[in-house]
Amino acid sequence: MDNLSYLTGFNNEHETEALPGALPKGQFSPQKVNYKLYAEQFSSTAFTAPRADNRRSWTYRLRPSIAMGDFKKIDNGLVRTAPETAIPCPPNVMRWDPIPLPDSECDFIDSLVTIATNGDAKTQTGMGIHCYSANMDMQNRVFYSSDGEMLIVPQLGDMLITTEFGKLHVSVGEIVVIPRGVRFAVKPLGGPIRGYICENYGHPFVLPERGPVGANGYANQRDFYYPTAYFEDNDTPHTIVNKFCGNLFEAPLDHSPFDVVAWVGNSAPYKYNLSRFNVINTVSFDHPDPSIFTVLTSPSDLEGTANVDFVIFPPRWMVAENTFRPPYYHRNVMSEFMGLIEGMYDAKEHGFVPGGMSLHNCMTPHGPEAEVFDKASNAELTPQRYENTLAFMFESRYPIAPTAFAMHSDLRQKDYLSCWKGLQKHYDGEK
Ligand code: FE2
Repeated sequence: MDNLSYLTGFNNEHETEALPGALPKGQFSPQKVNYKLYAEQFSSTAFTAPRADNRRSWTYRLRPSIAMGDFKKIDNGLVRTAPETAIPCPPNVMRWDPIPLPDSECDFIDSLVTIATNGDAKTQTGMGIHCYSANMDMQNRVFYSSDGEMLIVPQLGDMLITTEFGKLHVSVGEIVVIPRGVRFAVKPLGGPIRGYICENYGHPFVLPERGPVGANGYANQRDFYYPTAYFEDNDTPHTIVNKFCGNLFEAPLDHSPFDVVAWVGNSAPYKYNLSRFNVINTVSFDHPDPSIFTVLTSPSDLEGTANVDFVIFPPRWMVAENTFRPPYYHRNVMSEFMGLIEGMYDAKEHGFVPGGMSLHNCMTPHGPEAEVFDKASNAELTPQRYENTLAFMFESRYPIAPTAFAMHSDLRQKDYLSCWKGLQKHYDGEK
């Protein structure tokens, strides 16, 4: 149940105040701010980024963010950052079982485990792919990444995410995006939580162009929810954990950083319910490329070639005539990392379970398993509703390197390739 109030509209210039009159009118930085607040700008693009790309917000808070102690290096745990040079990146297809739920108390930060990375965080290209699996709140710890924006894809459990910009209640079937640098805390609601994270080192996510589809469809701007201002006047000690250039640091703070009384701007966390995605697909024949299901894209400097696309495979009707309906066999210059939020994915009926992951790297062949091929090649092609399915993909122009943890973990299905072993030659010279 989500009783919070939100502001709607992707990338809007939102404005919100938790106390009446806290937001300055007509200017951003008056000599004195009402309620004796400090004004602080938060820039997640360069000042000089083109207007259409520019993201910044003004916050009005009890103290400026620099009112804190020095950072000290802490253990990185299983968190990794590109470029990872510990092991060569093999071109094999790979698949993993879900990260287990914790068997003792564990918060979001301590639960982070990096599965793969690509690009280079210091040049702001590529991404890190992490999983979380937690069962307790962060108490007075707060996290932020300087290395990237965090797209969180819950797979299990509701959570309350408190951020400097306000609170978001996030459920399975929703995603949340926390801009680079925004401080936040995660609290599981009513049980353990688990999910995936794309730490996008590159250009912040935007909505894909629609081209001839027109002015509506795919993810619509109105369905993106931003928090309303929330603050706490809390002078108890807190700890800030920062991921910076691939390392974790912590710094003391003698108060809560969630002290923004009002804010205005377009750089803030947001959430989106994937069931709002307006699915567009063929009504004649053949399978459109999976880019038809792109929810958000982080563009790179090569036009039409994403730093990372976030793509979903949601419940939908399949009506294609005279068509092999599952995803086609494929080799791709782009690298594909998949996860399964719930149900079953149509190309893999066995072994790819909710919470699991698969990786098909640059030019590595992949496609439906043998059993699915046989079934789909002989299926009666009546209109069919795909139910109980929600898979997603992080697709990137840069090869995706599994971490040493992912390569050597018992979670890795060393026999993944065998799902294609039954693919026989059917050719017999006859038409
Ligand atoms: Fe593919």
